[in-house]
Amino acid sequence: MQIALLGGTGDIGEGLALRLAYDTPHEVVVGSRKAEKAETKAEEYETELSSRGLDVTIGHGENPDAAAGADVVVLSVPAYHLADTVDSVADRLDRDAVLVSPAVGMKRDDAGLHYNPPGAGSVTQLAAQSAPADVPVVGAFHNLAAGRLANLDAELGWDVPVVGDDADAVSLIADVAAGIEGLRPLRAGGLENAAEVESLTALLINLAANNEGLHDLGVRFT
Ligand SMILES: NC(=O)c1ccc[n+]([C@@H]2O[C@H](COP(=O)([O-])OP(=O)(O)OC[C@H]3O[C@@H](n4cnc5c(N)ncnc54)[C@H](OP(=O)(O)O)[C@@H]3O)[C@@H](O)[C@H]2O)c1
Repeated sequence: MQIALLGGTGDIGEGLALRLAYDTPHEVVVGSRKAEKAETKAEEYETELSSRGLDVTIGHGENPDAAAGADVVVLSVPAYHLADTVDSVADRLDRDAVLVSPAVGMKRDDAGLHYNPPGAGSVTQLAAQSAPADVPVVGAFHNLAAGRLANLDAELGWDVPVVGDDADAVSLIADVAAGIEGLRPLRAGGLENAAEVESLTALLINLAANNEGLHDLGVRFT
């Protein structure tokens, strides 16, 4: 499958691009608002993979070009720019494509980070409201720590709660997650359950900030 990472030039995009290219047979395409930036980052990812003996081509392009023809389109952009990003690619999406939101809205004050969902209830639901009606949206990868994900030497051992209303789309994205070594997808319900999953991310970051020796946390349910 072809997997486009919009904003794949950023932290979570880098981690997903490297892991998907390293662990799975999927074709990865890095999207950006700027074609040149996408090209530079794709080359950087190829160099990292090549240093580990894997010669793969990472595609690249402006977000709408990256999204066109992709089977899975991951919205790896800040939550507050997610709806605009969906709008910018909407008419280029393949009608069989699945959109994936890993985005979490958070705000910081003196006490730390707080989950800050949009009016839609969650960023995943906002993505669903913004997407063309016939393109299913799935929430996944919210609770991964980008730094550890991008370090291919690091073992993960994390769960990936997956939410969505379209059973086939949820299965597809669960399979994508399962393809990455050390990730275990878990079904967490429909889109209305996305807020519960997204809010965990603020907890993970607060735990890391307040406890010595804990960083790059993920979740594992036992
Ligand atoms: N970082 C993590 O550990 C982590 C973990 C789980 C989930 N997430 C979620 O994943 C999403 C991305 O996180 P991140 O840490 O990767 O963010 P980031 O590095 O700050 O940004 C990712 C990319 O978003 C694009 N972007 C920035 N401003 C934009 C705008 N105004 N409009 C459209 N695109 C814009 C940029 O790409 P271009 O400049 O190339 O367009 C940037 O490289 C967030 O919603 C976050 O909540 C992050």
